[in-house]
Amino acid sequence: MKICVLSEINKSEKRVSLVPDSVNYLVKKRHEIFIVDGAGKEAGYPNEEYTNSGAKIISNHDVHKADICITISKPKTLNSFKDKQVLISVLGTRSDKKILKDINDKNITAFDMELIPRISRAQRMDVLSSQASIAGYKSALIIANELGIYLPMMMTAAGTIPPAKILILGAGVAGLQAIATARRLGALVSAFDIRLAAGEQIESLGATFIHPNKDVDAESETGYAKELEESEQIKQRKFLEGHLSNSDGVITTAAIPGKRAPILITNEMIKKMKPGSVIVDVVADSGGNVELNNSGETIIAHGVKIISPVDIQSKMSKVSSNLYSRNVTALIDLLTDNNGNILFDFEDEIINSTCVTNNGQSRNE
Ligand code: NAI
Repeated sequence: MKICVLSEINKSEKRVSLVPDSVNYLVKKRHEIFIVDGAGKEAGYPNEEYTNSGAKIISNHDVHKADICITISKPKTLNSFKDKQVLISVLGTRSDKKILKDINDKNITAFDMELIPRISRAQRMDVLSSQASIAGYKSALIIANELGIYLPMMMTAAGTIPPAKILILGAGVAGLQAIATARRLGALVSAFDIRLAAGEQIESLGATFIHPNKDVDAESETGYAKELEESEQIKQRKFLEGHLSNSDGVITTAAIPGKRAPILITNEMIKKMKPGSVIVDVVADSGGNVELNNSGETIIAHGVKIISPVDIQSKMSKVSSNLYSRNVTALIDLLTDNNGNILFDFEDEIINSTCVTNNGQSRNE
């Protein structure tokens, strides 16, 4: 197969969808790899590393020469795509249905990396987990950097300094990694999630699980959280108020697949927090957990610093590209046979769930 790595369109996006190590691997599997000129530069992979691994550098106008095009963010335009080309990307089709029409109009077969099922066989392709873990790790480092206090307890000649109190809201993949990282840095960590199953995982990392009512579980059959009714959300915010005012740093990671992230911290709640405390809103990309969110900006409100980074994984673009690249390579392996030919086995659960359009038709809508 001829596989082309597109350059990312968003300025804040520093990742690349395939790294030279994966090029090496795919070339050995008889694929021909094209890299759009400079696509890996921001992630620390210049053109020469790709050519040394067996790829060819091409211009943006030549992407139609490939059978499969890969990218991280969905392409802004499909103008340079040709009929029956395959696109693999984080398309976000759970929340953006319009893109399906555009893809079908071009008769492109598209795979949405966000839809890789959470089953053990698909773990190698699980881009949500690989990227969320990086976001969680980085958010704890941002807190450590931005707080005006130590994270660990410090015994000094001038007296003992207590550890920082860090609160994590949402304990999925990103939240658990944030807990683990803040704990390693010596902070006192507590965490909240509406899924009770998260409680055990939080405690296994040495943090305290806080929950207003442990008889109520908001986990759906899919393993993801269910969206709460407005009345439940109000109760939840009331419960969190005291915990927020007692924290030095807060990391928010709560999300509902395909929906806007729930608002967990309102303006009124921020007023009651300690001046000098810091909030990192990891899900700013999907609307944010903080009402006063200014996507991509850092603001100070009532003495509290609110950081809402977009493309947080781009702050660690080398490792996030590396992991994305391994995820996408594992999917390409599943989609192609030993001679490098494409096969779409829709009986396969991973292919069936991830392929969103084929032959000009949307699938699984
Ligand atoms: P996510 O990114 O969709 O959400 C992050 C967290 O926010 C979740 O833990 C969710 O329960 C929580 N949340 C949602 N609304 C909230 C609210 N109002 N207040 C507080 N917390 C709220 O979740 P992620 O990280 O993608 O993981 C979701 C599930 O998938 C988890 O059960 C995880 O264990 C599971 N999983 C399974 C894998 C597998 O291979 N079997 C791999 C990775 C995750």
